[in-house]
Amino acid sequence: PVEARVDDLLGRMTLPEKVGQMLQLDARNDVKEIVSEKLAGSILHTSPAKMLEAIDLVATTRLQIPLLTAEDCIHGHSFWPGATIFPSQLAMAASWDPALLERVGRVTAVEVSTTGIHQTFSPVLCIARDLRWGRVDETFGEDPFLIGELGSAMIRGYQGGGLSDPTAILATAKHFAGYSETQGGRDASEADLSPRKLRSWFLPPFERVAREGCRVFMLGYQSMDGVPITANKWLLNDVLKQEWGFAGTLVTDWDNVGRMVWEQRVCAGYAEAAAVAVRAGNDQVMVTPGFFEGALEAVERGLLQEQEIDAAVRRILRLKFELGLFENPRAPDPVRQRAVIGAPEHAEFNLEVARRSLVLLRNDGVLPIDAGARFKRIAVIGPNADDVSAQLGDWAGNSGQVDWMPDGHPRELVETVLDGFRALVPERWDVTYARGAEIERLVPDPEGETYPDGQPRPPVSQSAPVDEHLLEQARNQAIGADYAVVVVGDTVNLTGENKSTATLELLGGQIALLDAVAATRTPMIVVLINSKPCVLPPSALGAAAIVQAFNPGMRGGRAIAELALGLIEPSGRMPLSVPRHVGQQPVYYNQIRGQHGTRYADLTQEPLFVFGEGLSYTTLVYSDISVSSPIVPMGGFIRARVTLTNTGERPALETVQVYVSDLVSSVTWAVRELKAYRQVTVPPGESVTVDLEVPAADCSLVTADGRRVVEPGDFELQAGPSSRERDLLKARFTITG
Ligand code: IFM
Repeated sequence: PVEARVDDLLGRMTLPEKVGQMLQLDARNDVKEIVSEKLAGSILHTSPAKMLEAIDLVATTRLQIPLLTAEDCIHGHSFWPGATIFPSQLAMAASWDPALLERVGRVTAVEVSTTGIHQTFSPVLCIARDLRWGRVDETFGEDPFLIGELGSAMIRGYQGGGLSDPTAILATAKHFAGYSETQGGRDASEADLSPRKLRSWFLPPFERVAREGCRVFMLGYQSMDGVPITANKWLLNDVLKQEWGFAGTLVTDWDNVGRMVWEQRVCAGYAEAAAVAVRAGNDQVMVTPGFFEGALEAVERGLLQEQEIDAAVRRILRLKFELGLFENPRAPDPVRQRAVIGAPEHAEFNLEVARRSLVLLRNDGVLPIDAGARFKRIAVIGPNADDVSAQLGDWAGNSGQVDWMPDGHPRELVETVLDGFRALVPERWDVTYARGAEIERLVPDPEGETYPDGQPRPPVSQSAPVDEHLLEQARNQAIGADYAVVVVGDTVNLTGENKSTATLELLGGQIALLDAVAATRTPMIVVLINSKPCVLPPSALGAAAIVQAFNPGMRGGRAIAELALGLIEPSGRMPLSVPRHVGQQPVYYNQIRGQHGTRYADLTQEPLFVFGEGLSYTTLVYSDISVSSPIVPMGGFIRARVTLTNTGERPALETVQVYVSDLVSSVTWAVRELKAYRQVTVPPGESVTVDLEVPAADCSLVTADGRRVVEPGDFELQAGPSSRERDLLKARFTITG
């Protein structure tokens, strides 16, 4: 019946109505123009008031086709005061837990669906390799397998019981594909990616979710080999739609179609750009109002056939029918909003997510702090120790993206690190606070006051000078304390779209602060609240403990204090590698082997912390690795077993990682690749055996002519607590052809 209804409606639509359906426009602008003149089928960035206005306006249009409303609900409802804001996607990736991410998607959908939003632009399936890129916080890290596991789970959560489920929201896998690999980490520039390289690392997570039924993909901004992604017919049509059988819709990124005219300059005008975009396979055109006139002109000039527009509109209408929008436009529901947005059980779950997202990277035994001691003084120090914005990270209504929540999320819903310690230390203990340093100061954008389209450019962030007064306060507090918890990192102005950074160092007075606290010899616990890994100075590397929190969300500060006080066990594992120096970029673990000279003349090539790394409050010993059969047929499974012994005194939630290395291959290939992992709880003093399975079909590579195949021959299975060579136990197996 859906197809019959699509046929019927399409048959009654005029060409302008069809072109309008393809438009997704910015509702921060004039909604009357958007809905009544441009006949837009979809809107984004909609304030609650504008949404109601738009719904009323649709009722006055000839066919009253319901709007599809979309928003960037990236780690919770970004733009709804009081909604549950989870840790950043990167932070949550450190949990390595698909079930947790599925619940995050579900809770988000339950909240978002009450606000009249039907679609979220999430999850990001880009691979974070060059950490200078400004959107590393939005990724699941550097590994295609982990990204596929977590991305697929989050999509399941968003889409709940299926699109017609009123608590479901439509997921959007983005940014298809290779957007993270632009030159020098600079946003939206050229990505030097061959089709073979795309197929090797960048496409697999997208292929997985496409085959599992994800219904919308969003493009990146970049071009590859001279072709803007918006014009890449091979990728959008031949690979995605034909080869993978993707039947959903493709939405461009922000003004991609216009950019082909005014920025990338491959199209003479909007008619040409509209024709190129539709021909390549795009369906929804995000924030290019000129597409409306352009597409009409393209049809008139014969650059585009109406049937080509029909094909795109058909896909959009199909989605609207499947969402049930014609029967139930899923308008905002204030009653449900009051019941679910920021509900206590969501806040409780958010705390659980934050706990699972923390990675303990170093610990000389200072942690956990003994909460049974009679008296202790804890100095909580640092610019991110009590900073709501840095803790929530990007996409949390705190970076000027929308104007209807000028105050961001209510302060009382956010627990900073300072709040966490104050709430959790025993009553007689003392907790002091000093900011210690500024990270940035905001200055007018040196590029000018406006963008080429006339929009004002926001101020840009510059490293702040060392503030001797703040430094002195911090030093004094550290001197009198038993522990100095120093919380450093970055700010929301240093992360996000168009906010790539040339350096990864701690900015402003932060290095001076760490040096000053280290010099007091008070045991220093460094907590990193940052959007992406940063390069640490020697004083931080010499700290008694280092906790990597990324942007840990509304309840992150409490989770950090719980971890420090030993109320929970640390269990997060790094979803990406941390460099020693920005010049090492990229430093991901699954590098191609055979790079002669594995070190720079002036520095090792080894990262500081590796993919998969993370400590517990106990010691775990891996032993007795075996594979059930060393000979595996092509369609079979490699079944591995490893024993894990907890030789310490506290329980551990361990992530047992299994990597595969192809010992001889027809092309140079990754030194090892993650193929499976399992999370197990090991009580103190006990041993558990862990069984893991890898399908032989997953031991594949991409040949020189671009085919993904398994090459029969010898492989090594490697199991352990991280991707570091010395952490892995090894067993050989052979795949027979
Ligand atoms: O969803 C985002 C995308 O990730 C980057 N450009 C803007 C879109 C809509 O806000």
